[in-house]
Amino acid sequence: MRATSVLLGLHLALAVAYENNNNQKPLGNPRPNPKKKQPNIVFILTDDQDLHMNSLDYMPLTKKHLIDQGTFYKQHYCTTAICCPSRVSLWTGKQAHNTNVTDVSPPYGGYPKFVSQGFNSAYLPVWLQNAGYNTLYTGKLFNAHTTTNYDSPFPGGWNTSDFLLDPYTYDYLNATYQRNHDPPVSHPGQHTLDLITAKALSLLTSVAASPSPFFLGIAPVAPHSNVDASSLTSPDANISTVQFTPPIPLARHAHLFPDARVPRTPNFNPASGPSGTSWIRRLRHQGEDNVEFNDHFYRQRLRALQGVDELVDAVVRRLDALGLLEETYVFYTTDNGFHIGQHRLQPGKECGFEEDVHVPLVVRGPGVPKGREVEGVVTTHVDLAPTLLGIARGEGDGLEFDGEAIPLTGEDVDAARGRRHEHVAVEFWGLALNEGKTWGGEEERVALNNTYKGARVVGEGYSFYYSVWCSNERELYDLTTDPYQLRNLLHPDEKAHVPATILGVSFDKVVARLDSLLFVLKSCKGTTCTRPWHALHPAGNVLNLKDALAVRFDDFYLTQQKRVSFDRCELGYIVDAEGPQFEKDGFAYRQGTPWYEWV
Ligand SMILES: *[C@@H]1O[C@H](CO)[C@@H](O)[C@H](O)[C@H]1NC(C)=O
Ligand SMILES: *[C@@H]1O[C@H](CO)[C@@H](O)[C@H](O)[C@H]1NC(C)=O
Ligand SMILES: *[C@@H]1O[C@H](CO)[C@@H](O)[C@H](O)[C@H]1NC(C)=O
Ligand SMILES: *[C@@H]1O[C@H](CO)[C@@H](O)[C@H](O)[C@H]1NC(C)=O
Ligand SMILES: *[C@@H]1O[C@H](CO)[C@@H](O)[C@H](O)[C@H]1NC(C)=O
Repeated sequence: MRATSVLLGLHLALAVAYENNNNQKPLGNPRPNPKKKQPNIVFILTDDQDLHMNSLDYMPLTKKHLIDQGTFYKQHYCTTAICCPSRVSLWTGKQAHNTNVTDVSPPYGGYPKFVSQGFNSAYLPVWLQNAGYNTLYTGKLFNAHTTTNYDSPFPGGWNTSDFLLDPYTYDYLNATYQRNHDPPVSHPGQHTLDLITAKALSLLTSVAASPSPFFLGIAPVAPHSNVDASSLTSPDANISTVQFTPPIPLARHAHLFPDARVPRTPNFNPASGPSGTSWIRRLRHQGEDNVEFNDHFYRQRLRALQGVDELVDAVVRRLDALGLLEETYVFYTTDNGFHIGQHRLQPGKECGFEEDVHVPLVVRGPGVPKGREVEGVVTTHVDLAPTLLGIARGEGDGLEFDGEAIPLTGEDVDAARGRRHEHVAVEFWGLALNEGKTWGGEEERVALNNTYKGARVVGEGYSFYYSVWCSNERELYDLTTDPYQLRNLLHPDEKAHVPATILGVSFDKVVARLDSLLFVLKSCKGTTCTRPWHALHPAGNVLNLKDALAVRFDDFYLTQQKRVSFDRCELGYIVDAEGPQFEKDGFAYRQGTPWYEWV
């Protein structure tokens, strides 16, 4: 059991707000047309797929059917870069600090924690059923959803399901799937991607004639690392004995892209010196063998993704053949990103860098512009549940999301610009795992104290990532001048690079604003997550970072605020380790009274 709890997988997140309390009309909710049938939704969720290493460039069928026929949201983020927490956030529309599912396994995460937090009867498929949808799912739902706990209880909300189960979820050639209430079935020698494609097509065909609209979730395991199940089930298994190997492609794709290698961006295995903070700053420069192996790892990911590309092709062609394509939304995203070699990191995720949190989101469907790339509109995984519920015209009443619906029509996208949230609340608790080889000894498998909060802010003319770690080390990257996040302006070694001013405002003043933003975001709920500046300025005259930089707020930010800090590092969300809290006793600021006077 300990093995199972150790295991598992690794990834995901999301959350959202349906309506804001700013007296603005909710942005981007699809306009209901009561006469029209509710549209179908197909939601394809890959596992650990990167945006920054260009994996989509190797998926021509996904480009043809989804990118060219839909809208690519170029500023889409997950809010926690690990599978299960990210997925729970996605399906509930809540930040991980509000789900408290923050890990892949108990006690802080995994399917058992999802259930004990009450979400098995309060997440998207349940709400979609309430809206009249026939809900179907195949593939990985959560980590620590296993061959022993799959029926205690069964996941709620699905009319038909065919789940991948731990500890065999990442066993590409011997996966275990479990259909409806049937016992688990192991598939030795069959490839998980061929299996899931066949299952998805059969689910589609089964609903074609049904009068209800349907939601079909398809969650293939690629391009996640392969994990040898026996390394999870042996009696003395622990987090450092889990055996990750590069993903295993379908045989027909095994020799593709022989010359592909990880893009040699400026942050790839930098020779000039370490970057980041905490354990990342102590990483050694990778030697030639290490880089060669990691390039192989990269190619295996691209090859494994060919099975997903064919899955996308098969699903879209089947929708077309069934006459359903034009009335169906197809979403394509992943739980979290991935890094290989950037900042000298071994293959893995769990960091706050762009490689791990900035992920693909492509949508095609009724009213969604074709071939459009949306820049300057920040969207996150916690925005997805309200988006999907909006499409389904489900009841948002009584639900509190930490995100807000993503604008889908061209008109709504244009209206959202400058009015929508410009930030992502990034958070993480626990360990970082090296999924490659341990070149310097087994102690390089697990990085401890990888607990941090971050705020990614992308506005007109600025782009920052600010974070505070449980060690109280801090990071600030100015991505307009440092897009590869090589210069942590808050690290003592980088003093010489600190600009006197940013956006015409002195450096310290900008940092103070970002810290206050993070202070609100790290425990925000509902509309405070989408309108954090409103919590700091209840009069409503500050809508974004730029407004907050006004000179008249200098004193407010520089001298009157509490700072983000930690008391110690914990593996989960233990409030009392996390310093002062903004929302101590519920959130009820008095208009016009600075919050610090009464918190
Ligand atoms: C799906 O399940 C819900 C809840 O059990 C049920 O009310 C609905 O009729 C089912 N839909 C279909 C198409 O079977
Ligand atoms: C496949 O997995 C099953 C458990 O689901 C195990 O009993 C069997 O030995 C495995 N087969 C191979 C060939 O690894
Ligand atoms: C994990 O197991 C290995 C092998 O049994 C052992 O050497 C190691 O100390 C264990 N690590 C932890 C964190 O328990
Ligand atoms: C991790 O944090 C704990 C508690 O904050 C501290 O005692 C420990 O030394 C840290 N370990 C490492 C490896 O940094
Ligand atoms: C989150 O869950 C952990 C593990 O059950 C618990 O110790 C902690 O108090 C919870 N945190 C919050 C804020 O509820």
